[in-house]
Amino acid sequence: MSKPTLLPARRPLGHLATLRRDPLMLFAQALGAADDAVRMRFATREAWALFEPALIKHVLVDHTELFDKGTRGYDTLRLLLGDGLVTSDGDFWLRQRRIAQPAFHKKSIARFGDVMAQAAESLADGWRFLKAPIDVAGAMTRLALRIAGLTLFGEDLTDETAEVSRAVDVALGQFRNRVSSPLPPGLRLPTAGARAFDDAVSTLDRVVFQMIADRRAATDPGTDLLGLFMAARDAETGEAMNDRQLRDELITMLLAGHETTANALAWTLLLLAQHPAWADRLADDLRARLDGRAPTVAEALDLPLLDQVFQESLRLYPPVWAVGRRVVEAHRLGPFDVDAGTYIFVSQYALHRHPRFWRHPERFDPTRFAPGSDELPEGDRRYAYLPFLRGRRQCIGDQFARLESLIILATLLQRFRFRLVGDRPIAPEASVTLRPRGGIHVHVQPRR
Ligand code: HEM
Repeated sequence: MSKPTLLPARRPLGHLATLRRDPLMLFAQALGAADDAVRMRFATREAWALFEPALIKHVLVDHTELFDKGTRGYDTLRLLLGDGLVTSDGDFWLRQRRIAQPAFHKKSIARFGDVMAQAAESLADGWRFLKAPIDVAGAMTRLALRIAGLTLFGEDLTDETAEVSRAVDVALGQFRNRVSSPLPPGLRLPTAGARAFDDAVSTLDRVVFQMIADRRAATDPGTDLLGLFMAARDAETGEAMNDRQLRDELITMLLAGHETTANALAWTLLLLAQHPAWADRLADDLRARLDGRAPTVAEALDLPLLDQVFQESLRLYPPVWAVGRRVVEAHRLGPFDVDAGTYIFVSQYALHRHPRFWRHPERFDPTRFAPGSDELPEGDRRYAYLPFLRGRRQCIGDQFARLESLIILATLLQRFRFRLVGDRPIAPEASVTLRPRGGIHVHVQPRR
C-alpha cells in the first residue's frame, strides 16, 4: 500500500490543534513536506492535502463519482445552509444545479450590469466628502450584499444589511471552532457561542422566509433566481420545491453570492493601497478608457490591466482558501492507495503560493497574468490556480463575480486613492472564506 508522506504530529489528536489555531500554517507546513501529496491526521480521520495537478484533476474532474461532500466541514456548513447547491451531492445536487443554471448564463448576467454599476456609483458618490477613515472591507460586504439581493432575488436588502452582515459574521466565526472540535458538529452545547450561532441562523431564516412569502404573494413569479427555483417542478413527481428547500437554496446563494465577492474586492483594494504605483497606473488606464464613469458590461469585460490585477489578487487571497472531499470508495489515486473515508483537501491558498508554480509567490505581480506570461494557468498549471475551482462543482457564479468585481473596481479606482491607516499588518483569517482580520481601515481620497 503506497501512501503519501506523513506530516509529523506529536499530539494525540494529530493536526487538529493546528487546524484550529492556524489552518493556513498547517497547509503551508504540508506544502513544505512533499511535492505531490501529504498525509495528516485529524483525531482518528486521515486527511490528505494534494499539491500535484494530476492528482487534483483526478478528484475534481476525472473521478468525481469517487468523492462526495461528506466531510466535517460541509457537515458543519449544513447547520447553516441546509441542503443547498454548495452542500448537496449526487442526483439532488445535479437537479438543483440545472434549475439554477439559466440565471447564470452570460445573457442573464449581462442584465445585471446596470444594477452593479449604479450600486457602485452610488457608493462612490457617498464617498466624495468622507473625512474619517472607513473599513473598506465592511463597505464591500454591504455593497455586494445589496447587489446580490437586487440581482438574484429582486429585493433591496439595504435595510437588512446590518443585521444580515452581523449574522453572517457570527455564523462564519463559529465555523472554525466547530470544524476543528473533536465533538460532533451538530451537538448542541449550552454555550454562549452556540446560542449566538442559533440566533444568527434565525435572523437569516427570517430574511429569507420573508422573501419567499413576498414572492408567493406576487402575481408574477419572475425570471430571477428565486423565480426559477419557485417555478421548477420535479420531473418525476411534478412537485414544486417546498419552503424549506427554497430556504436552503436562497441562504446558500445569499451567502455564496456576496461573502466571497466582498472579500475578493477588499483584498484587491488592500493590495492596491499597498502598491500605490499599480493603483496610479490602473487609474490612468481606466480613466483613459472610461473617463471617470462606470463601465458597461462590454467595457468591463475588456479591461485587461484591471483583469490581471484582479486575478493576481485572487491568487494571493483566494476567498475560498480550501475545499474538502471525502473518498467514497477505496481506489488508486495516482501512485497512492486511498481508503474510503479519507478526507482530501485542495487548498487554493497553499497552491497559489507554491514556489513550484509561481516565481516569488509572495510578491504582488499582476503581470503573471499578462498575455504571453509563462505563469498563465494553462495546461497542467490550471490545477494550480483554482479561485473558482474546476470540474462539475466549479463555482456557478464565477462570471457573475468577475463582472461585478470589474465594474465595482473600475468605478472606484478611477475616482479614489486608498491610504491605509497605520502600519498594522492585515492578516488573513481562514474561516469558510478568507477574511481580512479586523477589517481594512483606509483613508479614501478623491483623485483630482
Ligand atoms: C470572487 C467570488 C467568488 C469566489 C472566489 C467563489 C469561489 C467558489 C468556489 C471555490 C466554489 C467551490 C466550493 C466547493 O466545492 O465547496 C464555489 C461554489 C459555488 N459558488 Fe462561488 N465564488 C464566488 C462568487 C460566487 C457568486 C457571486 C455566487 C452566486 C451569485 C456564487 C455561488 C456559488 C455556488 C451556488 C456554489 C456551489 C456550486 C455547486 O457546487 O454547484 N459564488 N464558489
